[in-house]
Amino acid sequence: MVTVRNVADLRGVVDQWRADRLVIGLVPTMGALHDGHLSLVRRALAECDRVIVSIFVNPTQFDNASDLALYPRTADDDAAMLRGAGAHALFMPDVDAMYPAGFATRIHVGGVSEGLCGAHRLGHFDGVATVVTKLLIQSRTDRAYFGEKDFQQLQVVRRVAADLDLPVTIVGCPTVREGDGLAMSSRNRRLPVEDREKAARLPHLMQDAVEALKNGEASTSVLPRLRTALEQTGFGPVEYAELRRADDLTRCDETYRPARLLVAAWLGHVRLIDNLPVA
Ligand code: PAJ
Repeated sequence: MVTVRNVADLRGVVDQWRADRLVIGLVPTMGALHDGHLSLVRRALAECDRVIVSIFVNPTQFDNASDLALYPRTADDDAAMLRGAGAHALFMPDVDAMYPAGFATRIHVGGVSEGLCGAHRLGHFDGVATVVTKLLIQSRTDRAYFGEKDFQQLQVVRRVAADLDLPVTIVGCPTVREGDGLAMSSRNRRLPVEDREKAARLPHLMQDAVEALKNGEASTSVLPRLRTALEQTGFGPVEYAELRRADDLTRCDETYRPARLLVAAWLGHVRLIDNLPVA
């Protein structure tokens, strides 16, 4: 695995691969890698000749300085995991390489980035759309892999790639969970042990809500009940618990298919998000 730290060196690697007509896959990450990230890498390895993983804790998508400062950084472990998985290149730029002095462009995606996380984390999806667009262009990748764990982010990325005619296939990959159901996340490392069991209640309470919706119970009663159950478990505040159309994330009721149940809730100082299909 080759490690590159600036765009010129990345281009050097990629130009050779493209000259050899190899299919390239990109897995963008912010590091602190876990098995959810590795599932994307494995999928990319199965579908592409060469796989690049990027690790960049992108400051423009954080709406809160302490969240950025506290974001876990485990570069040596990450590199070892990626080497073990068989990734071909690790792209690890520093902030100046991605945002040199004078940088002044921002990509704003309307529609899918409004509401849900977009309503609670101002500017977050502009930051995501901007950095992902840069990574797609820098890597000249054929395919790029994103997790359904961040379902709204996946829709934002699909939108920006389509709207800007980026020559890339966006691949969505299923959420990888711990044995107790909690969706894997780099932020789980910040959960104190005493909150770990409570955190795992989130997907189970969401699953109960999905079953009720599938049984035809009105979302206007299921969603408030889910909120209350989360609050009684110790979550708070619950930022949102909503049912949306899976394709464009507009609001829908329990009769629409395919739909998605999406939740963001705080447990102590840790913000957890999860989503489940209502198919
Ligand atoms: P990060 O949170 O590191 O996640 C990188 C990728 O891994 C994202 O596509 C995310 O959806 C996916 N992922 C995270 N946890 C997962 C899980 N449990 N199962 C499946 N996939 C999972 O998301 C970002 O970084 C950033 O916003 C980024 C896209 C890199 C832009 O900065």
